[in-house]
Amino acid sequence: MIILGSSRKARRGEVVAKWVLAAAQADSRFEIDYVDLQQLNLPYFDELESPFTMYAQGIEYTYAEGKAWAQRVGQAEAYLIVTPEYNHGYPGVLKNALDWVGREWGDKPVAFVSYGNITGGARAVEGLRQVAVELGLFQVANAIYFPNISRDAFTPEGQPSHASANDNLKKMFDELVRLQQAFSSVKKFGT
Ligand SMILES: Cc1cc2nc3c(=O)[nH]c(=O)nc-3n(C[C@H](O)[C@H](O)[C@H](O)COP(=O)(O)O)c2cc1C
Repeated sequence: MIILGSSRKARRGEVVAKWVLAAAQADSRFEIDYVDLQQLNLPYFDELESPFTMYAQGIEYTYAEGKAWAQRVGQAEAYLIVTPEYNHGYPGVLKNALDWVGREWGDKPVAFVSYGNITGGARAVEGLRQVAVELGLFQVANAIYFPNISRDAFTPEGQPSHASANDNLKKMFDELVRLQQAFSSVKKFGT
């Protein structure tokens, strides 16, 4: 599952996410579920309990959108999150999407690609790492950061200005597959 974590109409994130998507589509190891949070359009989280408690106690979602999103997350075997940096964090819309789901994230790998100004979104990724721990995700160690997103990080054709990013994305895919294979046969936590 590739998640584009920016939903504003004038977002620059689409060029980054579409670069990831094209590389994943060209890789025969993957079946891709591309999630655009603008289209997903989730309401703000509003359930009776946390999704972890709901899962543990068999409590149904009251919002059909939340239920469908949790099922979609549950079907994925690995996640790649593309995020901008907003005020040294990641967008609220992305946090909302993460908060809507609990156990379905667990015991699966996640990798991060970020973009922003001078730090390339590094602080957004660091913030996401804390959340990912609580969600029970296994994290790919190396993230990919794109500084200068509003200037020259990508060519007009939608390719990274530094070709090394393609090699790093391939390594990220390899690591997602390695972690997914390593943990898919392990008994799930709490079962
Ligand atoms: C509300 C807001 C806060 C921002 N704060 C930061 C920041 O703290 N660090 C940074 O590197 N860039 C920051 N930027 C610049 C964004 O990284 C840049 O505008 C990027 O294109 C935003 O992603 P998007 O276009 O996909 O929404 C901020 C942009 C916005 C809209």
